[in-house]
Amino acid sequence: MSNQENEPWPELKLPELLSDDTVRALHAAIESEWDPARRSACQTAAGRALWRQVIQDPLAELFAGETYLKNVYEKIKKDKLNKAREISGVILAVRTLWFDSKLEMALSSSVGGGAQVVLLGAGMDARAYRLKCLKESSVFEVDFPEVLHAKATILDAAANSNNKNHHPIMKAKSLSRVAADLTEDDWLEKLQISGFEPKKSTVWILEGIIYYLSHFHAMKVLNIIAEKCNLTNTVLVADFMNKQATTLSNSTFHFYCDWPDQLLPSLGFSEVNLSQIGDPDAHFGLLQDPLNLFNKLRNLPRSIQTQPDDGTPCCRLYLLQASGSPNKTIS
Ligand SMILES: C[S@@+](CC[C@H](N)C(=O)[O-])C[C@H]1O[C@@H](n2cnc3c(N)ncnc32)[C@H](O)[C@@H]1O
Repeated sequence: MSNQENEPWPELKLPELLSDDTVRALHAAIESEWDPARRSACQTAAGRALWRQVIQDPLAELFAGETYLKNVYEKIKKDKLNKAREISGVILAVRTLWFDSKLEMALSSSVGGGAQVVLLGAGMDARAYRLKCLKESSVFEVDFPEVLHAKATILDAAANSNNKNHHPIMKAKSLSRVAADLTEDDWLEKLQISGFEPKKSTVWILEGIIYYLSHFHAMKVLNIIAEKCNLTNTVLVADFMNKQATTLSNSTFHFYCDWPDQLLPSLGFSEVNLSQIGDPDAHFGLLQDPLNLFNKLRNLPRSIQTQPDDGTPCCRLYLLQASGSPNKTIS
């Protein structure tokens, strides 16, 4: 990636399909009726759509909708004008690229190309249509029914559109949408009814989801995944907020963990790697300025709660990759 800071940002051009009656009405309902957790699916898609120089996700702008696209675009324009050290959405872009790279690595490693892939809190994730590495994988997307229904409606509209660029092309071997609430006890059962095989190698993707859950429910989900290490090759790729980061929205974010690299081994994962945004495997050429927020944070000890220079809270997003298998469980 070239040095972004000096380049003009690509213009926002809204796709015609966003003016389609069905798609427009759907996005209006999303904005007025969904709660912040569900709406975050579209906000995340907007981030990916506007970082199209580094993320090839042609469906993202349709999933995001006009309002979120315009909001993020305005923020980016302001950041560029003010020569901000961090451009809005960069954290999302880095996170997406990091998850892509870890998923690709997991599927080409000992877990095997045929591993099934479960996306918990899948939202408007389009990996099944983006990533060739999924060609031998059954993919399962778990989210609230209304989120998955909206996604399917937009995909239908894209498939029927006159613009061939919008036609979704499946890259995964198969895709199942599993409508479930992760705070209910039946999500795993619903996953199995949809074809998830508990004994088959599995990569679990928890991108931007775990902190929406309460501590109780987040730990329950993590324990269920960790237990799978006793059954089969299991890889978990997840992001965690530290306590300070959840204060960015006390009403929306709940679960936090300051030391996920200690938590995950205690649950049964044998190999655990933690990265921070800006680390060598988590910058993708997008965080060049040594004084940007992310580089400043990663140069401070993780135990420090506030920035020594200005007293602002150290809000961190930890990127975790963990794995385990029956012959590698921790005693
Ligand atoms: C920030 S979005 C991330 C979406 C997707 N992983 C991505 O990166 O594009 C969070 C997603 O988690 C989903 N979610 C939050 N709480 C959930 C729950 N209790 N059960 C199922 N999905 C949930 C929301 O509906 C939303 O789609």
